[in-house]
Amino acid sequence: MSAPDEATRRAWRRDRVKGLLAGQPRIGPQTVHFDLANACNTRCTTCWDHSPHLVAARVPSALWKRKQLALDRFEATLESLLALGGLEAIILSGMGEPLLNPAVYDMIAIAHRAGLEVTIITNLLLLDQARAFASGGRLELLTSICGVTEPVWHAFHAHPRPDGWATLLRQLQGLRERGFRPKHVQVINAQNAHQLVDMVHFAREYPAARINFKLASLANGTEAVALTPDQKEGLLYDLIPRAMGFAHAYGIPTDLDAFALQVDPTSHRTAPIEEIGCFMGYLYARVTVEGDVLFCCNPKVRAGGLPAEGPVDFGALWRGASWQGLRDIVRSGRYFPGCDQCGKFKQNVKWSQRLKEQLGEPAWRALIGRGEGAP
Ligand SMILES: C[S@@+](CC[C@H](N)C(=O)[O-])C[C@H]1O[C@@H](n2cnc3c(N)ncnc32)[C@H](O)[C@@H]1O
Ligand code: SF4
Ligand code: SF4
Repeated sequence: MSAPDEATRRAWRRDRVKGLLAGQPRIGPQTVHFDLANACNTRCTTCWDHSPHLVAARVPSALWKRKQLALDRFEATLESLLALGGLEAIILSGMGEPLLNPAVYDMIAIAHRAGLEVTIITNLLLLDQARAFASGGRLELLTSICGVTEPVWHAFHAHPRPDGWATLLRQLQGLRERGFRPKHVQVINAQNAHQLVDMVHFAREYPAARINFKLASLANGTEAVALTPDQKEGLLYDLIPRAMGFAHAYGIPTDLDAFALQVDPTSHRTAPIEEIGCFMGYLYARVTVEGDVLFCCNPKVRAGGLPAEGPVDFGALWRGASWQGLRDIVRSGRYFPGCDQCGKFKQNVKWSQRLKEQLGEPAWRALIGRGEGAP
């Protein structure tokens, strides 16, 4: 497993766009997300699987929570993806906290040996920094912060231990001492929206490479922490513009413009996806700890499954009828349950803008199922 050279990467990029235009991918996904653990060491109020607000029917079982992705399943899947071509990056995350899986540091090293960029999506509390940085490859940390004072952080995380906030600050100080800038993730709900501007100040104090703001997508009881219409107006007309001003002054990149698009004072939905289009079927896949292969981060959109042991043929799934059927659905402008809260909204916005500029409005409209004759 060796790193692809620049010419190969350029060819992949061309093939990717050709596949998008043709409606069928020519190479494998660019990014694959691996779930490493279902359990978590904290209980964020917005969390789809661990929130204390979940209705009883949606509280996961203890058996489900114990499941983790085994190192050999990770290696077999990666090997197959590398053979398919096109893979540039992996994401290590989970329905829970990836750092609870003891194999995480071996997985980082294996991916780095293959020349891949590794992103870990984590609450950061358990990070062994020396081991994470040992292999010396490209590493990004997408660190969930979600509140920048002790009481707000603890309210958001419903954290079982009183030293949670102090642990987070210790980790952030450690990264600062290394000169490493993580990306801060701020999931915004009713408990922390008033801190939007302070989140930018925090990203200067604990230097961040950028801040990603996510409007919490809520369901199954977690609507209890939804923003009120007044909070949404406060965000749109006061907090977002001020936060943008400070981020600009400090030189910290953010996605506040795309975040503003998601804040709709009249509805719970977070993504006007039908106006943007979905391109994930050519770029991305997610593998759960159970070996389910998902079309995107939406657990309701399943593209297939991996064998529990032995070699993996990822290409057979990626090129197979089931995955293609899902691509065809979103390309015709139809969507799935949950797409109105698309977790890949900002990536879709980026690709949508890029394709619109490259192809012109009529061809772009055809790609997202809104052209002439579209349903
Ligand atoms: C489910 S977590 C798993 C990884 C890790 N435990 C963490 O929190 O970073 C994946 C990402 O979803 C974010 N998140 C949690 N609840 C969310 C919600 N309701 N809407 C959008 N993002 C959410 C987290 O902040 C995190 O960035
Ligand atoms: S840290 Fe991540 S997985 Fe854990 S409760 Fe929070 S959002 Fe959910
Ligand atoms: S949630 Fe829907 S729109 Fe978003 S990436 Fe998945 S399939 Fe596409």
